[in-house]
Formats: sequence, structure tokens, C-alpha cells
Amino acid sequence: MRSAQLTIDPAFSIGPADRRLFGSFVEHMGRCVYGGIYEPGHPNADSRGLRRDVLELTRELGVSVVRYPGGNFVSGYRWEDGVGPVGDRPRRLDLAWKTIETNAFGLDEFMTWAAEAGVEPMMAVNLGTRGVQEALDLLEYANHPGGTALSDLRRKHGAEDPYGVRLWCLGNEMDGPWQVGHKTADEYGRLAAEAARAMKMIDPSISLVACGSSNRRMPTFAAWEATVLEHTYEHVDYISAHTYYDPSDGDQASILASAVDMDNFITEVVATADHVAARQRHKRKLKISFDEWNVWYESRLQADLDRRGWVEAPALIEDDFTAVDAVVVGDLLITLLRHADRVGVAAQAQLANVIAPIRTRNGGPAWRQSIFHPFALTARYARGTVLRTEPVSPRYETKKYGDVPVLDTVAVHDEETGELTVFAVNRDQTDLPLDIDLRGLPSMSGLSFQSIAAGSDPSATNTEAEPDRVTPREMPTPTPDGGRCTVRLPAVSWNVLRFGPTSA
Ligand code: AHR
Repeated sequence: MRSAQLTIDPAFSIGPADRRLFGSFVEHMGRCVYGGIYEPGHPNADSRGLRRDVLELTRELGVSVVRYPGGNFVSGYRWEDGVGPVGDRPRRLDLAWKTIETNAFGLDEFMTWAAEAGVEPMMAVNLGTRGVQEALDLLEYANHPGGTALSDLRRKHGAEDPYGVRLWCLGNEMDGPWQVGHKTADEYGRLAAEAARAMKMIDPSISLVACGSSNRRMPTFAAWEATVLEHTYEHVDYISAHTYYDPSDGDQASILASAVDMDNFITEVVATADHVAARQRHKRKLKISFDEWNVWYESRLQADLDRRGWVEAPALIEDDFTAVDAVVVGDLLITLLRHADRVGVAAQAQLANVIAPIRTRNGGPAWRQSIFHPFALTARYARGTVLRTEPVSPRYETKKYGDVPVLDTVAVHDEETGELTVFAVNRDQTDLPLDIDLRGLPSMSGLSFQSIAAGSDPSATNTEAEPDRVTPREMPTPTPDGGRCTVRLPAVSWNVLRFGPTSA
């Protein structure tokens, strides 16, 4: 039987495990807002229409930051439509998703929801159909204390204190020809730079995200980043990256190696940003905001859009995620952590119903999809300093990514508690014995070992009728001796192994 080895040493540190890596995304798309986080009249909704069951699951998921209101939606959005008395708000055509937007939910409702959920808001401004002035207006409404037309309007609407939103996205996927108001890299770069400069005049404490490519397969990828950053580097704090992995073709070997692609994507964006920094003589290293990532059965989207005319909050891309998808999501989280020195923010897309860890039925229950579990466990245990692990692993061949290792790992060391957590994926179709050498941490005991294994039932999903088919299983706790132990990672599995200092 094949086996693998892993050496972990607290001296090999990458950087702090930033809480902002555990972000999510709420877009006005499908039933993410309407019927997801917000459903007035639902038996579980509060007096403001916020679904308490979804709020509870959001807290359990461990989400830190939530991007809003889009996504493609933001590129045609007028934020002013979503504030003030609900009865006065206009109904609009949303061109991104061919939907009627009622505007019953808007900025103030989102801020109330974010406070209840205990998450940091991350706002996006519309640089598709709008420009610098509208971005400034939104920032003044949200962050200026008072005494001006727009800050006083916010106070009149019931929010006396400014919202103090720290993270702002300068548009969304502006490289994509599907985007309303799509631009060339030079057009977008100029606009983003001017919006950024002016926004920081209103509030210098904000951090700004320039749009990178919509994915690594875009024909303009890397050239787009280079041009946009030539214009914006000195004004922004992050460049965005987005990626989705589509399992529709049934090529399990490749989908399990999706993290290899994400890893290369991050390395290439970092190299491009560093190239611009070198040309422009910047000392400050730019970070990535990986503000859309997930598994997505993307080939089904067109059917969803073709099926209907203009309607309110239709069910859109409500993918049922499998046990294999959970392993892939866990591996993507491993990759984000491994790049904690250069990825400062990340947001899984999306939070509720739309390719989401949380599913709901209108008027009915809410439940955890398979992908909920690796996210929740990683957000709970990845605390402290991310450590570089040194795996020695067997390899296998994939159609999409060539020869890849079967084992993928990262470790996080919490200096305060002394605890060490190892996240490990076995992409192999058979169990993988793994020898772990906790070098520099010789007196550790095993605390727990949890596993999501997809080997025996790869297509298992969690449904309303069977919400707990895919959940983490307890495995035999490892027992290190002199800092060494061997564990058995089940076939096709995502695993979390926890160790703590042995008490004297
Ligand atoms: O998350 C769904 C969509 O995917 C977003 O609106 C867009 O930014 C991306 O293409």
C-alpha cells in the first residue's frame, strides 16, 4: 500500500491565519437574499424579516466577512433604490440575472443583518453602469458621521452611527464580456484608480480591492492584472481573484485536484503584482482578495436562465453538493491558508441557496449542505500561525492538471493554547497511511481526528429530507510518541487532526 510522510515544524511559519480568509458572499441573485437570509412572514423570521435559522447557521459556519451586493448584480445596481421607506422603493430590471429586483432589501437591511450575524461587511461599488460620483455617494452615506446630505439621510433612515465599512470592492469582474458595463483593462484601470483616490479622500481608513481576472482561463488573464495594477497599485490594497470548479463532466480525478489550479493561480497573480511593484518601485506588497471561490456545476446556469422571463427571486444555481465536493472545498481552504502571507481576504460564493453551504426552502427549513462542514471546521480550528508543511506523497495522473500529489496539507499552530491543527486531503481512491513527524513539538497528545470521506458514497448529498448524510465522522484519535504518529486517511477524504501539549 502507498503511504505518505509529513514533517511539521513550528519554525516554518508562513504567516497569521487571518480571520478574513473565512469570508462569504451575499449577492442579489436567485434566492440568496430573498428566501435565503431575508424572508418576511417566515415562521423563523424576526420583525425585520431576517431568517433566524439562517442567521444561526451563518454564525455556526464561522463566517468572518461578507461581500455584498454582488457579483454581476452590482454592475447595474443603484444603491439609492435600496434605502428609505420600503413602500417607496422602485422595482427594477436586473440585467445580470434577468430578474425583477424589488429593492425590499438594501444597504441598511444588510448592515442590520451583518451586525446580527457578527460578520464584517465588505461592500462593492458599481463601476459598470456608474462611476466615481456614485461610489463617493455610497461611501458618504455609509461611513461619514453626519452633517452632510447623504450621512444625514442615513441617520434619517434610522442609522445614527456610521457603518464604518472598511473593505470596498471597486466593481466586479470588469474583464468579463458578460458584465454590464464591461471595460478594457485600461478603461477599468483608469476608472478604478480615480474612484480609489477620491474614496480615500472621504475615508483614508478604508481598504480597496481592484478587480483582477474573473478566472485563470480568461484570455486576458495576467495581462489584465498587469495593466490594471499599472494604473491602480499605489491606490489599492488588494487585487481580486475568482475561481469556480465545475464537476459536471464526471472527471473525479481532476475535480479532486482543483486546488492545484487554485495554487498556481495565486502564485501567478502574486508574480504579476510583484512585477508591477518592481517596475513602479513600490516596497509595499499587494495582497489578493480571493473574493469568489467554490465548486459550481456551472454548465447548468444557462438552463436556469433560459427557463423563464422576468420574475422575482427565482431559484438559480441551487446546486446540491456531494461528498466529493466537500473534499474539494476543504482542499481549496487548505490552499488559501497555505498562501496566508499573500491572500488577505477570501469569500466563498455564496452564503445561502446560490451555490451555497446553507440551503433553505421558502416557508420551510434551512439545512447544511456537505460543503458547510469543511468550511465550519476550518474556520473554527485554523487559529494562530499557518505553518509550511513538508509532505512526501505518492502521485497520480489527471486529465486537467497532469501529475499531482495525492496528499495536500497545511498546519496551523495556536501559540496561545499550544494546539496544532493539521488539515489533510487524500485524493486517492484507497486509504492513505500518513506518518506525521511533529518536529519541534515532541510532547504533543492527540485531541481529535475528524474526517469527511467520500470514497464509499461519492455522490451523497444533504437534502431537506436527509440533511445529515454527509457530515464529519470521528476517527480514532492519533497517539504521538516522541512527536511521531501514523494515521490512516480514508479514501477520497478531507481530514482535520488536532494535537495539544501533553499535560505533565
Ligand atoms: O457568484 C455568481 C457569479 O459568479 C457572480 O455574480 C459573478 O461575479 C461570478 O461570475
